[in-house]
Amino acid sequence: MKVHVLLSPLNADELYFSEKTTVVIDVLRATSTAIVALNNGAREVIPVEKMEFAMRISGGQNLLGGERNLKKIEGFDLGNSPFEYTEEVVRGKSIIQFTTNGSKAVVRAKFSKNLFIASFLNLSAIAEKLTELGEDVQILCAGSNGMFSLEDTVCAGMLIKKLSEKNPEIQLSDSSQASVILADSFAADILKMLRESEHGKELIEAGFEEDLKLISEIDSVPVVPYFDSDSLKLETEEKGSGEEK
Ligand code: MLT
Repeated sequence: MKVHVLLSPLNADELYFSEKTTVVIDVLRATSTAIVALNNGAREVIPVEKMEFAMRISGGQNLLGGERNLKKIEGFDLGNSPFEYTEEVVRGKSIIQFTTNGSKAVVRAKFSKNLFIASFLNLSAIAEKLTELGEDVQILCAGSNGMFSLEDTVCAGMLIKKLSEKNPEIQLSDSSQASVILADSFAADILKMLRESEHGKELIEAGFEEDLKLISEIDSVPVVPYFDSDSLKLETEEKGSGEEK
């Protein structure tokens, strides 16, 4: 198994991902929030890259969620804090997700043969799934406006470490090796790393400090969201179809 980390979505165009197995990471906060929403019974999360498109397909059983400058967008039902995506709110709903970096990164990787989302919340579950598939892996860090972001890269490094435990033959690209070094430096206190990251500081200033605590909890939401027919769903039927609850 070869593993490569894309440190920003700008490192590759859409066609790069065709026939590849990809994991998109946006720790703060898009993939963490989508993971929580699906675990709480959302039928699906539909990531979009344009706000106008999000508005156009909203209505009915859909909820519009996301952020601009970290805050809920006027006309949207929800912001981008995982705390908003409770079971009462999301059960059985399709959630259209528009965010500054994360939803766009998922859309960029949409031609992947297998596409998953990860964060600290579901690292081991994703590592297990990737091991089961046995394919080469691309880890796409959503980053920040095309730039590197510490928290996504540390998360990528921790995912690689878990994959290495299960796959002794693993081959790491240069960016994968660098991600592992960062993971080794920061893994001991993920919450501290989040607090000290650029994006973490902005979230604290905007009043979202509690989000960082929830998002730092490794393996607390052990689900495997995969992208299929334009939306993210859960692997297991009973979790994904909120209506059955
Ligand atoms: C993003 O996509 O840039 C993030 O999810 C922003 C955030 O809500 O913290």
